[in-house]
Amino acid sequence: MDLTKIFASAALIYLLYLASRLYRNYVRARSTGFKLRVFPFEIGTPLFSVTATPFLGLVKRFFPQSFARTYDLGVYGVEFRDRVAKRERETPGYLVVTPSNTLELFVEDGEIATAILTRRREFEQDEVSRKIMNQFGPSLAGSVGEGWSRQRRLIAPMLNERIMETVWTESQQQAHQMMSHITDAEGGTTSGTVTGLRKIAFNILSTIGYGMPTKWSAETKKAGKGEKMDFMEALLHLVDGLILLVLFPPRLLKQSWMPISLRQIGDAYYQFYEHSSEMLQKERDALKSSGTLRNTFLSSLASVNDNGADPYEKDGRLNRPAFTEDQITGNLYTFTLAGYDTTANTMAYAVAMLAAYPEWQDWIIEEIDRVHKEVSDPKSYQQVLPKMERCLALMFETL
Ligand code: HEM
Repeated sequence: MDLTKIFASAALIYLLYLASRLYRNYVRARSTGFKLRVFPFEIGTPLFSVTATPFLGLVKRFFPQSFARTYDLGVYGVEFRDRVAKRERETPGYLVVTPSNTLELFVEDGEIATAILTRRREFEQDEVSRKIMNQFGPSLAGSVGEGWSRQRRLIAPMLNERIMETVWTESQQQAHQMMSHITDAEGGTTSGTVTGLRKIAFNILSTIGYGMPTKWSAETKKAGKGEKMDFMEALLHLVDGLILLVLFPPRLLKQSWMPISLRQIGDAYYQFYEHSSEMLQKERDALKSSGTLRNTFLSSLASVNDNGADPYEKDGRLNRPAFTEDQITGNLYTFTLAGYDTTANTMAYAVAMLAAYPEWQDWIIEEIDRVHKEVSDPKSYQQVLPKMERCLALMFETL
C-alpha cells in the first residue's frame, strides 16, 4: 500500500471514530430534553479559542447560521458580541454536542446562570478552567469540593469593608490622575479610554492585593533588554498570555528563538514566582517583627490561621499558617486574574454606553453634584457611596 492510501485510511478511521462518539453523545444529550446544537469539534478549549478567533468573520459569512452560531459560542467574548448585535435570546439554554467526553450546557437566561454560579458545590468547575486558575498553585477559584469550602471560609472575610474603603480611595485618586492627563496633556479628547481604564483596574488591584500603590500614568513601564521585569510588569504579561500558558510550557515560550511577545510571557512566568516568594518572605518578616497586619490581600493570606475544625487543628498545630506558599501564590494570581479583565471591561462598557447615550451622563452627573453638596466630606467612602443610587443602577444595567 502506498503512503497516501495509508494516510487516507488512517484519516477515515479517525473520522469514523469521531462520528461514532458524536452519535453516542447525541443519543445521551437527546434524553435530557434540552434544545441541542451539534458541532463536529470540541469548542471552548484553549486550542479552539486560539485557532478559531481569526476565522470567526469568515465562518459567519460563509457557513450556515446554526454552525456559525455554535462556532461563535466557542470564541471568547460571545456575550459582548451578542450585546453589540442586540441579539435576542433563543431559549433559556441548550446543550452543545461534540465528539468530546463532556456535553456543554450554554445558558442564556441570567437568572439560571446566577443560580448555577452560586451553587458551586453542585456545579463544579471544568478541568480546563481549573488548570488555568491553578497555574501558580492551588487557589480558591480553581478548587472544588472540600478544598473549595475551606479556602472560601478563610478568604471571604478578607474582602471586607476595610479593603473596600481602600478600593474607594484608590479609585478616586486613579480616576483623577487619568482625568488630569486627558484634560491637560491630551486637550480634553482621547482615544485611550479603554487602556486608561485597564490601568485603573490594575493599579487598584496592585494596591489592595500586594500593597504596591502605583500612580496612573499614560506610559507603560517596560524592562529593558537583559533587565528583570518588575512584579507588576510580569503579572501583566501573564494575564495577557493566560491561554498560551495553558497550551505551551513556559520553558518553551522563553526560548531565545521565540517571538519577543511569547518570550516575555515565558520570562514573566518565572519572574512572577521569584517576586512572589520574595514578597511573601518580606511580608512574613514584617509580620513577625511588627505584629501588625497591612491592609492587603497578601498580608491577610500570609497571616491567616486556620482555626476551624480541620486537620490543621487536629494536628495540634494551631498557629500554623492556613495557606502554603504555593496556595498563596496561586490565590494572588487568580485574585488579579479574576479582578482585572472583569472590572476593566465592565468600566469600559459603561463608559462606552454613556458616550453613546449622553442623556444618561447628565442623569449621573446630577446625582454626583447633588451628593457632593449634601455631604461634609465628598471623598468619604461611608458618606458618599451609600447615596450613589444612580451610579449603582448604571453598574447593574452594565453587568
Ligand atoms: C465586574 C467585575 C466582576 C465580574 C463580572 C466577576 C464575575 C465573576 C463570576 C461570574 C465568577 C464565578 C465564576 C465561576 O464560579 O466559575 C467570579 C468568581 C470569582 N471572582 Fe469575580 N467578578 C468581578 C470582579 C472580581 C474582583 C474585583 C475580584 C477580586 C479582586 C474577583 C475575584 C473572584 C474570585 C476569587 C472568584 C472565585 C470565587 C470562588 O471560586 O468561590 N472578581 N467572578
